This record gives sequence, C-alpha cells and structure tokens, in this order.
Amino acid sequence: MRGPAFALDYSGTVSYKDLCAKTTKEHQESHQKTMSSPMYTFVLRDDNSTVYAEVAKILISTGKWKRLKKDNPRFNLMLGERNRLPFGRLGHEPGLMQLVNYYRGADKLCRKASLVKIIKTSPELKDSCNWFPESYIIYPTNLNTPVAPATNGIGHMKTNPKTDEREVFLASYNSRKESGEGTVWIAKSSAGAKGAGILISHDANELLEFIDNQGQVHVIQKYLEKPLLLEPGHRKFDIRSWVLVDHQYNIYLYREGVLRTSSEPYNSSDLQDMTCHLTNHCIQKEHSQNYGRYEEGNEMFFDEFRQYLLTTHNVAMETSVLPQIKHIIRSCLTCIEPAISTKHLSYQSFQLFGFDFMLDESFKVWLIEINGAPACAQRLYPELCQGIVDVAISTVFSLSADTILSSPPFSTSPSLSSNSCSSPKIRAPHHFGPFLKL
Ligand SMILES: Nc1ncnc2c1ncn2[C@@H]1O[C@H](COP(=O)(O)OP(=O)(O)O)[C@@H](O)[C@H]1O
Ligand SMILES: [Mg+2]
Repeated sequence: MRGPAFALDYSGTVSYKDLCAKTTKEHQESHQKTMSSPMYTFVLRDDNSTVYAEVAKILISTGKWKRLKKDNPRFNLMLGERNRLPFGRLGHEPGLMQLVNYYRGADKLCRKASLVKIIKTSPELKDSCNWFPESYIIYPTNLNTPVAPATNGIGHMKTNPKTDEREVFLASYNSRKESGEGTVWIAKSSAGAKGAGILISHDANELLEFIDNQGQVHVIQKYLEKPLLLEPGHRKFDIRSWVLVDHQYNIYLYREGVLRTSSEPYNSSDLQDMTCHLTNHCIQKEHSQNYGRYEEGNEMFFDEFRQYLLTTHNVAMETSVLPQIKHIIRSCLTCIEPAISTKHLSYQSFQLFGFDFMLDESFKVWLIEINGAPACAQRLYPELCQGIVDVAISTVFSLSADTILSSPPFSTSPSLSSNSCSSPKIRAPHHFGPFLKL
C-alpha cells in the first residue's frame, strides 16, 4: 500500500522537458495539497519529555502532521504520559489507526525489582543470564511480606509473586564472605532514579536496616567492585545505549551511545563518597568539584571511547563490547515480547528505551538498569528524534492519501521504501537511518 505519492501518466508521447515540467508541477501541487492539509494527527500529552517535544516538532515540520488538543480522542498518534496512558481506550476510534509511544507492560523491565524477577524466572534467562549482577528483592519488614526460605531457589517467586528474599540474600552474602569473594553490595529503591535512595555497604545488616526504614520495595545487588576505570583520573563510568522497538517488535540499537563519567577517583575503601561510586549525571553535577574537568558535561561519546579502548587497552569496541550489549538488549526485550507485543491488537505501540551498562576490568558488560522513558544527550536529539520519526512512525503511517483509512492498517513488515515520507536511508543491510537492527 505504499505506492508513489503521485503517479505519473506515461501514456502518449511527452518530451523529457514536458515530463519534467509535469512532474515538477504535480509534485508541487501534491506537496502544497499535503502542506495545506495534514494527513495525520497526534496528541502530545507529556509536557516533560524533551524527546517527544522534539519528535512533535519534527512531525509538524513535515507538513503532514497536525497536533490536536490533548483530550481529543481522534488522533493517529499519541505521544503519551508514560504512567497515565489510557491503553484500554486505544484503537477503538472507527476508521483510525492508532499508535502510541509506549508498550503496555514494558515497565516490568524498567522497575528494578520486577527486572530482577523477570531475569530469575524467565525460562529464556534464568539459567543463562550471566550479565546481570546477583540481585535480591527486599521489602521493608513493616509491609509484612512473606520471607522466602534461604534454600528455596526461585520456587517462592513462582508460587507467590511477592516474597522477600532477605534470607536468600543473607545465605549468599555469608558464603561469599567465607570464601573471600567480594563483600560489597548496593541497595537501591525499585522505582528510584538519578542515584537517589542508594546505599553501598559491606554490612548486610546495615543494608537491610536501610531498606526497613524506607516505605517501598528495594533491590540488593552485588556491587561490581572492579569496574573498568577511565584514565586520567582513575574514574568510574556507565554506558547508556538507546534502543527503539517498533510496532512490529523490531529492535533497533541507536549507533551512538554515551558514557556517563565520574569526575572523582574511584575509591573502593570509601563507600560513602557517592561521587566516585555513582555515575548519575545529577550526582556528578551537584556534588563533584571536578564536574566537567575531564569530559564536557561528564559525557564521553562512543567515537572517543572506541579510540580510548583501542589505544589504552588494545580492545576493539565492535568485537568485544558491542556484541555483549546487543546480546543483553535482545535477551531482555525478547523475553517479554509475548507479554507486551501489540502486533495483534487494535492499536500499535513503539517505545524508546535507555539501557544502562557497566564494564568491568575484564571488559565484561553488565546490565545495570533499563529506563522506559529516557532523556537523550543534548547533541544527539536531532538525529535520534528524526530516527524515531523515520523508523517508528513514518513506517506505520504511509503518506499516500489513499492509505489513510486503509484496513488492515499495518503492514506485516515495516516498509522502508523510498516512497514513504522520510524513510531512513538504508546504508547497509541492517542499518536503518542511525539505527542498527538487532
Ligand atoms: N551493581 C552495581 N555495581 C556497581 N555500581 C553500580 C551498581 N548498580 C548501580 N551502580 C552505580 O550506581 C548508579 C545508579 O544506579 P542505578 O541502578 O542506575 O539507579 P538509578 O535509577 O538511581 O540511576 C549507576 O549509574 C552506577 O554508577
Ligand atoms: Mg541509573
């Protein structure tokens, strides 16, 4: 259904000049027509998302999209508020195909406790996952959550979705301690963000007490005690990758990524000093005296890191780090695909995720967390947001007028033909604009 936007009439004899004139005229008319009457509509319901503010700007600039008031139900595309999406009301407008920028249920990956649960119980991951630090789900005692026995394996998670794993944690803590393995653990609030509500400690009781004094579920996770450090400065970092999942559940990795660096020297004997242990941008910006000293905004982009790895460690990012990153992304997203895919629903979803990783000193990649509504590094906005429009939106809404109300609304595979409005330039078999298809 993605024929050319304006078909040429090749009957009769026309000179090349006539043809060009006719083509240009038709093109202009067609362009003016679509410029003056947008073909698709969207609502922007999230005033805080800088990514979707930029996406909205790009849509409007095409002349093909019109923004409606927030509560108008007759939209093609909802750029919604993540936590207040009316999923149940989507896809019921007669004659309208509707697309929304979140997957219902994807939050399971994005809350720390439910990520732990998915990794421990999913048949695809439970035995093979060696890229997520050992983790336990802990509820404050005042919530009276049943405590799983230490010897229970993951049995408790299957029988009771809410069980406290403090006994299982303590058993592992003690056995690691006895065998002289690392004894540092990190407690983090399940719904926490920006490095808030975190305690790093050698002491199991201190970690449990810390959680017992909070109101909500936490995760206690093995602290990665030997991270790869950046020189100069002997500094910790984490890696953010952006991942787009389109309406057909194709997974795309944005080719650019960023290291969020600490600007204080890593000090394993001072676990209180958050600036050398937590690489969150806001922690560094607010608390490090040296913020911006090594990298502008404590950010290093992949090109520079690629060079750094090669010259300092003789390690090639393409063959050592990126394959691990891709494997982790694929594993996480495919294990929840059956639960969240919208392929067979009356509306469709796409979503941008932020995957956060750490590298240890043996260049092993570890998953730290997954963000379901990631912001973007300042200089990447134009390219990433154009990529979202091209790969996740323009492939759903064809720009030829006859397909607006087409049924079925969605092709079985995303069409990236050169006829769609701003389809991505295909550079190599697996490259779609700035994305790599996984
Ligand atoms: N298991 C871990 N080992 C070492 N450092 C960690 C670990 N988990 C988190 N961190 C550090 O703490 C920071 C914040 O943790 P994260 O899980 O991302 O929580 P938040 O949601 O607050 O960002 C990470 O960016 C990383 O620098
Ligand atoms: Mg984080």
